[in-house]
Amino acid sequence: MIARLSEAQFDNALQDLTDILHRCVHAGASIGFVQPFSRQDAGVYWQGCVRPGLRAKTLDLFVAYCEGRCLGTVQLIPASMPNQPHRADVAKLLVHPQARRRGLGRALMAALEARAGELGKTLLVLDTRSTDPSRVLYQSIGFRIAGEIPDYCRNPAEDRLEPTTIMYKDLS
Ligand SMILES: CC(C)(COP(=O)(O)OP(=O)(O)OC[C@H]1O[C@@H](n2cnc3c(N)ncnc32)[C@H](O)[C@@H]1OP(=O)(O)O)[C@@H](O)C(=O)NCCC(=O)NCCS
Repeated sequence: MIARLSEAQFDNALQDLTDILHRCVHAGASIGFVQPFSRQDAGVYWQGCVRPGLRAKTLDLFVAYCEGRCLGTVQLIPASMPNQPHRADVAKLLVHPQARRRGLGRALMAALEARAGELGKTLLVLDTRSTDPSRVLYQSIGFRIAGEIPDYCRNPAEDRLEPTTIMYKDLS
């Protein structure tokens, strides 16, 4: 089941969200963080970056519940500038390493796209490490490749830079 969380509901999901982020980084995900990355660091991200956005209603947070636990998440972040009222970013699509290849990632993206449609958004933008399976997922649901930026970010565990792919989907 996919749910869009209010700030009040966020508290109940916080431990699971913290676990997902922590486990994803330790499984090698390139999602903004590098090791060492503690469970506490993961909690700081959710409390410091996501809770304020929920409170200010500058983002929508989706979670995937499975067997009574939250095992996946994604965020829809509408562009803030007045010349992009039709655009939103997709951020932090994460599925717990033990829950992958069960369709949670695709289900989260479907819920995000439905919400983007409700909000009148017609353009979604994201970036993903070029070598990641997420690129395959995004292409399978209609995202197109705008281009690749070499040496965009650090590998989460090793001292080397990696390329990212910028992708977009026209919902109109
Ligand atoms: C990317 C991620 C969210 C996918 O979650 P998921 O729940 O496993 O994805 P789904 O089960 O919905 O898979 C949907 C499709 O994506 C593709 N896909 C997903 N994982 C794949 C993999 N490891 N290898 C190849 N293709 C893959 C497949 O086309 C799959 O369809 P199929 O299972 O019918 O073949 C998950 O691997 C993850 O959390 N990765 C780490 C975090 C990350 O990199 N997030 C993206 C940030 S931009």
